[in-house]
Formats: sequence, structure tokens, C-alpha cells
Amino acid sequence: MEALFARADAAPRPLAAPHWTPKFVEPLMFDRSAERDRAAGAGSISFRGVSKIYAEGAAPALAGIDLAIEPGEIFGVIGRSGAGKSTLLRLINRLETATEGQVLVGGEDVGALDEGRLVALRRRVGMIFQHFNLMSAKTAAENVALPLVVAKRPRAEIETRVREALALVGLTDKRDAYPARLSGGQKQRVGIARALVAGPDVLLCDEATSALDPESTQSILALLKDINRRLGLTIVLITHEMSVIREVCDRVLVLDKGAIAEVGPVWRVFGEPRHEATRTLLRPLARGLPEDVAARLQPHPAPQGRSDAIVELAFSGEGEPDVGALAAALGGAKPRILSAQLDRIGGHTQGRLLLAVRLAAAPQLSGLAPSSKVLGYVAADD
Ligand SMILES: Nc1ncnc2c1ncn2[C@@H]1O[C@H](COP(=O)(O)OP(=O)(O)O)[C@@H](O)[C@H]1O
Ligand SMILES: [Mg+2]
Repeated sequence: MEALFARADAAPRPLAAPHWTPKFVEPLMFDRSAERDRAAGAGSISFRGVSKIYAEGAAPALAGIDLAIEPGEIFGVIGRSGAGKSTLLRLINRLETATEGQVLVGGEDVGALDEGRLVALRRRVGMIFQHFNLMSAKTAAENVALPLVVAKRPRAEIETRVREALALVGLTDKRDAYPARLSGGQKQRVGIARALVAGPDVLLCDEATSALDPESTQSILALLKDINRRLGLTIVLITHEMSVIREVCDRVLVLDKGAIAEVGPVWRVFGEPRHEATRTLLRPLARGLPEDVAARLQPHPAPQGRSDAIVELAFSGEGEPDVGALAAALGGAKPRILSAQLDRIGGHTQGRLLLAVRLAAAPQLSGLAPSSKVLGYVAADD
């Protein structure tokens, strides 16, 4: 059941131009395609019946988690505070151990690893944090070198890898700077370089952009996408920012009280949320009616005079809004667009059109959009 959650949006995603200038990266250590060919499935992550209970008698932080994360995907995890997101992530590199069930990384049961293999696992699974976790008394280069120094790698290898990792994140010129002299975005780049320096298959990100301003967030997201594409790395990303999920993730998992509420391609989960927990999380994204319309909205057309029907057309992945068909169907009813929130996610149209339609009778809406409804009526001004 590895392919339990097949990817429905396999089409390649266009990559937004990064805000930083990618520097030349020597292909030797970071082009890991050959290595991946040898270890097929490296970077895959499976949860099989996983539960985590921290303290006896306490409610489980996670219960009955079955999940397959595909190699090379960017997998988002959302859920309210305390839902178990960090616990799920920390089980992947065995910062926590499962109470029940198995966690497999590249097919290997991480719960069964001895000390030596655990060290090897941590090299295959890099992690970045909300507050960067850099050592303030060490330079950018020394921070990046740390995992290799701990692993007692030869000096020459450390030198080369650190140089490559800093180039990869666009920080070559900051190698000797101390964290206090770096911006938040630059600190997170150091964190990313440190996570990548040992050449991992998986990168775990726990709220990695939550402490950053919007511009730095954008540039870190562009960097993560670039790394994902260039290195074929699997990225598992926790965030409370729905826009981050929408921007970079292929699929998203919604956790609710330690259980899976739903999981699927972002366009589907965001377009047609099936679980109340998802709808609650997405509420800030879903803009309501324009205020002036909401104030005047009535459940029925005005008995005298003319009314406009306020019509919502919702698009959730199937087809594209056909303007010609809309005009043909509603042409006589003077349709006006009140607001439009349409987006294209993974090649699928998602969002809604809000129209005011002048009608004497009930509007003929069927076939105009996957879902359409009359929200109410407002008295016409003219
Ligand atoms: N080290 C710990 N010891 C005891 N309880 C913990 C520990 N870490 C997390 N928990 C509890 O497990 C639940 C899930 O926590 P966490 O995975 O951090 O959720 P999230 O990251 O979604 O906010 C919470 O109820 C939290 O209090
Ligand atoms: Mg957390």
C-alpha cells in the first residue's frame, strides 16, 4: 500500500523565479541523481499504524497514522496548535520514537536502528526550525560545517561541502559573518545549508518561515522549491500559513487531534475541504461577501421593483471558467462581476466568481460551474 495516496497532480509545476541569484554549484556532491538510482525509494516516508503517547494516561499526541510520502514531493502538514504536527515530523528523524507502529524512511524502519544507523539516518534527514537554532559564537560557515565536524569528516571534504552548501543558498559572501550580523532570512539560509551539507534525501521544516517577514518568506519558499527541484529532495513542511501550503506544496495533510482529518493534492483539499478541521483552518483564506453587498442581501427578491440575484460560481479543479458560455447563458440578465477569487493550483482552477444578475425569474445556473448557487438578492439601484 505504498502508493495509497497517489499523486493526482503529476504535471510539472512552473517555478517562480527565485528572489536570490542561484550561484554556480559544483555538481559533484550535490548532484545526487546517480546515488538515487542506486537507492530507489530513498526519500520515501511511510507511517504504518503509528501512535505516540508521551505520558501514561495522557491523550495520544498521534493515533493510528497511516501515511505514505513520495520521494521528491513537497508535502505540507497543517492543523491547529497541539494537533500533533511537530510530533509527526520528529518521528521521521527519530527525535521522538513511536509508541506503536512503524515509521519507514527509504524503506528502513527508523525505530529499529542501532546507534550507528541512527547517525546515518540523521545524515539522510535534515531539519530546519522556526528560530534557526544557530550557534551565535560560530560563523555562518562554521555553523554549516557542524554536522560534518561532528561526523569527523576529513577537513578537505568539509571545506568543499560547506562552500557548495553556502553557494546553494546564495550566501557565499556571508561565510565569515556571525548570526547576529545576518537578517532572519539569511539566518534561515544558513539553517538550510546546515541541513543540506551532509547530502540528505529528506528535509523537514517545522514552521521554518513563521519568524520571517513576507519578503524573506517568499525568498525562502523559492529556495525550498529550487532545492526540491534541483536535488530531488523530499520536503515535509509544517506551517500555519495556508498561503505557504498553496504556494509550494504538492499535497497537504490535515491533522486534527492527533489523527488524519484528510490528505490529498493541495488543489483538492483547498478547493473542496471535506473535514470541518480543514474548513476552520481555511476560513481566513475564504473571503466573504463584499461588505456593501452583505449589508443589503435579502433572502428573497423584492416584491416590487427589480432585484439582482447574487450568484456564486465555485470552481474546484474541473475545467476552466468559460466566459463565452457564461455570457451566452446569462447575457440577457446583465451579469456583472462583483468579485473574483480564482487561482490556478497545480494546473487546476480553484476559487469563485461572484456575480450580480438582473433577473425576473430564477436564473439558469446549471452547467456554468461545478457548483453554483444563489446567495440572495439585493434591490437594484436603477
Ligand atoms: N515532549 C513532550 N512531552 C509531553 N507532551 C508533549 C511533548 N511534545 C508534545 N506534547 C503534546 O503532544 C501534543 C501534540 O504536540 P505537537 O506535536 O507539538 O503539536 P503541534 O506541533 O501540532 O502544535 C500536544 O498535546 C502536546 O502538548
Ligand atoms: Mg509544533
